[in-house]
Amino acid sequence: MHDHRYLVEMRNIHKWFSGVCALRGVDFAVGYAEIVGLVGDNGAGKSTLIKILSGFYPPDEGKIFFEGQERHFSSPHEARDLGIETIYQEAAMVPKMSIMRNIFMGRELSRMRLGSLGYLDIPRMEEEAMKALQGVGLHLRSPHALVEELSGGQRQGVAIARAMYFKSKLVILDEPTNNLSVKESEKVLEFILELKRQGISSIFISHNLYHVYPVADRIVVLSHGEKIGDFRREETSVEKITKLMVLP
Ligand SMILES: Nc1ncnc2c1ncn2[C@@H]1O[C@H](COP(=O)(O)OP(=O)(O)OP(=O)(O)O)[C@@H](O)[C@H]1O
Ligand SMILES: [Mg+2]
Repeated sequence: MHDHRYLVEMRNIHKWFSGVCALRGVDFAVGYAEIVGLVGDNGAGKSTLIKILSGFYPPDEGKIFFEGQERHFSSPHEARDLGIETIYQEAAMVPKMSIMRNIFMGRELSRMRLGSLGYLDIPRMEEEAMKALQGVGLHLRSPHALVEELSGGQRQGVAIARAMYFKSKLVILDEPTNNLSVKESEKVLEFILELKRQGISSIFISHNLYHVYPVADRIVVLSHGEKIGDFRREETSVEKITKLMVLP
């Protein structure tokens, strides 16, 4: 039994952490080319839910369907290979490495294969890195600049460009606008909309409803490990969601 209307469907997800129930029976779905905003107070279970979807840990109960097929991810690698790319605010990039190396980390392009060895194709990676960055509207000087020289918003942009380059089907962004200036946040929202234009689904977690509401097609509200709301943007408002979230 599966539903092809959705790229992802999580059903009845439960997760406990040594006696603490982080998720209790959550149903969560993401459509094709859909932006789903995931909101809720601190400790509501947002990160836990997306970590289960990105293969970080298994659910204690419940099922995950991706493209209509039930999946059991035993590592983040497996989820990524299927096209689920997760961008964490802090660990999205290696600051001391170049933009290009960050984009191709673990998936380097090589030129020639001798047995299992290949030569890194630096010129092609340079060219492809710049193309990928331009694809999200990021015009950076050089693919060799270090990521630590970039602003927080630009780093998110590089991570999103990477997800696009490797043809991800779902990009999960956990608090991508955290600690960013207003202008930088706007840029990140633009990147998320660009994903949608390219047919890529995304999950956007944020505490800031004014960031989530304008871009999300649907907004899911978690509270104390339970889903307490699931609305299309047109049927709700920032005020309604805020009200729902402050209920005891
Ligand atoms: N690795 C862990 N070990 C123990 N408890 C955990 C772990 N990860 C999460 N929890 C607990 O599970 C609950 C849900 O946490 P989670 O990080 O998913 O919340 P969140 O909605 O992402 O919160 P925030 O908005 O603060 O990021 C919290 O009570 C948290 O303390
Ligand atoms: Mg979190």
